[in-house]
Amino acid sequence: MTAIPQERRVVTAIPGPKSQELQARRTATVAGGVGSVLPVFTARAGGGIIEDIDGNRLIDFGSGIAVTSVGASAEAVVRRASAQLADFTHTCFMVTPYEGYVEVCEALAELTPGDHAKKSALFNSGAEAVENAVKIARAYTKRQAVVVFDHGYHGRTNLTMALTAKNMPYKHGFGPFAPEVYRVPVAYGYRWPTGPENCGPEAAAQAIDQITKQIGAENVAAIIIEPVLGEGGFIEPAKGFLPAIVKFANDNGIVFVADEIQSGFCRTGQWFACEDEGIVPDLITTAKGIAGGLPLAAVTGRAEIMDAPHAGGLGGTYGGNPVACAGALGSIETMKELDLNGKAKRIEEIMKGRLAEIRKNAPNGAIIGDIRGRGAMIAIELVKDPETKEPNAEAAGALAKACHAEGLIVLTCGTYGNVLRFLPPLVIGEDLLNEGLDIIEQAFAGI
Ligand SMILES: Cc1ncc(COP(=O)(O)O)c(C=O)c1O
Repeated sequence: MTAIPQERRVVTAIPGPKSQELQARRTATVAGGVGSVLPVFTARAGGGIIEDIDGNRLIDFGSGIAVTSVGASAEAVVRRASAQLADFTHTCFMVTPYEGYVEVCEALAELTPGDHAKKSALFNSGAEAVENAVKIARAYTKRQAVVVFDHGYHGRTNLTMALTAKNMPYKHGFGPFAPEVYRVPVAYGYRWPTGPENCGPEAAAQAIDQITKQIGAENVAAIIIEPVLGEGGFIEPAKGFLPAIVKFANDNGIVFVADEIQSGFCRTGQWFACEDEGIVPDLITTAKGIAGGLPLAAVTGRAEIMDAPHAGGLGGTYGGNPVACAGALGSIETMKELDLNGKAKRIEEIMKGRLAEIRKNAPNGAIIGDIRGRGAMIAIELVKDPETKEPNAEAAGALAKACHAEGLIVLTCGTYGNVLRFLPPLVIGEDLLNEGLDIIEQAFAGI
């Protein structure tokens, strides 16, 4: 699968001397607003390992933020993208089209939920896909309002900043934001005042009440939600919430959009996370895991909705680039061949089991307030006291730092910055997965 030995190896301080040297050059020339979780510079990556320019091999529990589900050098992705590179790099699909784009749209029609007629349009980034989903929903409904949720994240462009909940670092100082965006409560079971068992229906009733009273259902073009909220803290909306929101959307002619940019393409152990409660979205946005690391994104949905915008109304110079499309076809081929949904479920089983043990037995394990997520999209929410649930962002930061020093890449997230999230490539070996969990366990002793 990959030439990189699937073994952790720490031979220098992390970051090592060569990375530190490059970091100095980077600081001089790369804009300060572009951050990095860990300034080790990559030499190569594949499977569950990232090798840096100092020769360290780090275990990857980040997948480049949920992108390299098939690994960062998957054979089928490299093979297909290389062949495409040699044939042609670009024509612009809007000038002279090519088969790869059509094949990706065919695959999306096959893999996304629902057996209705579907069409897709391809773009470069997740944010661009979400922006276009809004354009399409507005063209179809001839309405303007867009409803999003607390803790939601949809990107960094002007419209998607407006759709995103969290101020720092995503929005602060970057306004004014696009109008006609309304935010309503989401079913965050762990923090719901009357308990997780009541959360789904109560949160749905609150959200629907706010939409009808404050906006008017007849003014709403789209309701957009992540079926598992990513940056907001891997929040799985409590059961019953999503079906109630979908029913409300259907009853009121509102386009229901599932943003599966982080949760899609086998990440949660299903092709798409919304399948968990049998949700069939009108539109679905995808990116990240779709193309094995190449930049590609899509809006897929009911043919009559997708066809609402006038010809020429959708597109972009690079959208559906032929090399990225070839990468997507390689990525999808790998997901099917290696049964990556099955692998994601196995990762969940191992991770949740080990994390429950850490919570019970490890020193400081009691600060794990919640263990949640599905498949290879697993998180722990850290609190100062399990009774008060006061968020513990300091512990999340300290644990991440300790893991990084030992050669394990982990990321933090959450509205309160107190969630440690684990997004290993789905092709990671079980030995590496367990070694990463050992490092997490040891990190708890040190905070
Ligand atoms: C759910 C969700 N939507 C949208 C985006 C934006 O995608 P991109 O960074 O490719 O623009 C992200 C990125 O993290 C995401 O997780």
